[in-house]
Amino acid sequence: MRHLLDTTEFNKDELHALIALGREMKANPAAFRTGLAGKNIVTLFEKQSLRTRVTFDIGINRLGGHAVYLDQQNGAMGQRESVKDFAANLSRWCDGIVARVFDHKTLQGLREHATVPVVNSLCNLYHPCQALADFMTIAENYDDLSKVKLAYLGDGNNVAHSLLITGAILGTDVTVVSPKGSGPDAQIFNLAADLARKTGAKLAVTDNCDDIRGFDVAYTDTWVSMGDNTPMEAVIDKFMPYQNNQALLDSTGIRHVLHCQPAHRELEITSEVMDGPASLIMDEAENRMHIQNAILYTLINQA
Ligand code: CP
Ligand code: NVA
Repeated sequence: MRHLLDTTEFNKDELHALIALGREMKANPAAFRTGLAGKNIVTLFEKQSLRTRVTFDIGINRLGGHAVYLDQQNGAMGQRESVKDFAANLSRWCDGIVARVFDHKTLQGLREHATVPVVNSLCNLYHPCQALADFMTIAENYDDLSKVKLAYLGDGNNVAHSLLITGAILGTDVTVVSPKGSGPDAQIFNLAADLARKTGAKLAVTDNCDDIRGFDVAYTDTWVSMGDNTPMEAVIDKFMPYQNNQALLDSTGIRHVLHCQPAHRELEITSEVMDGPASLIMDEAENRMHIQNAILYTLINQA
């Protein structure tokens, strides 16, 4: 029984296999129409979502499976009943649990007490399905992920963490460019740095946009993540020098742009860049569905 709480649970070959399967499912959907036939998957959300909710629901349907959506109305995790009981009950009915939660510990509790695979669809620390969709999108545009240089600009959040870890395993250089004090969690960076030693990926954290000259891809995400009550106005001045805009692309020579979305136009990214020729952002959103199907197909059919 395997789970996906973060991408450290998969080695380099396995991550490449997931990306290859996602691309195959995208190219040849007819071959996978019964990939999850007879399988029921609970998708559980403690936080808001557009892409994750819709891509899991429609993606599972495309593989012949059935998705059951649970939101907070259906039972706040750990409040109406314990995470243990939640996991044990769900395991009697379904073949997999996809969960978007506030606290990573909730996912660990689900994994401990479920007898079906558990997939993290975002928590405070990680967003592994997103990072895998991102690397699938990069792989569609670059033949060798170990030669790619990826810059992440902005808040050192869950998305930055999953990009660091996944890049480290795949051998992609990842530099996080953040204002001082807003970089990634030091423990998670060190974990990624350990993984990078095996693949030769260069990982770095800086507050200087000059350090990403000659990079290939510029990624950004919101400056205030879900669950953080800081008003956006309070952080705009701090983060604005790290905006993903045309001047940044011109000064660094970066050719491609990613954003997990939801985007805050004219804050972390300009409309000019988001809608411009460098943007792979809608391919990235589409690829959420294909890579998640590859993840569910692999985990559930191996269980
Ligand atoms: N990127 C992403 O996870 O989007 P949602 O929050 O809309 O699911
Ligand atoms: N870092 C963002 C990602 C949203 C998909 C958040 O956690 O809100």
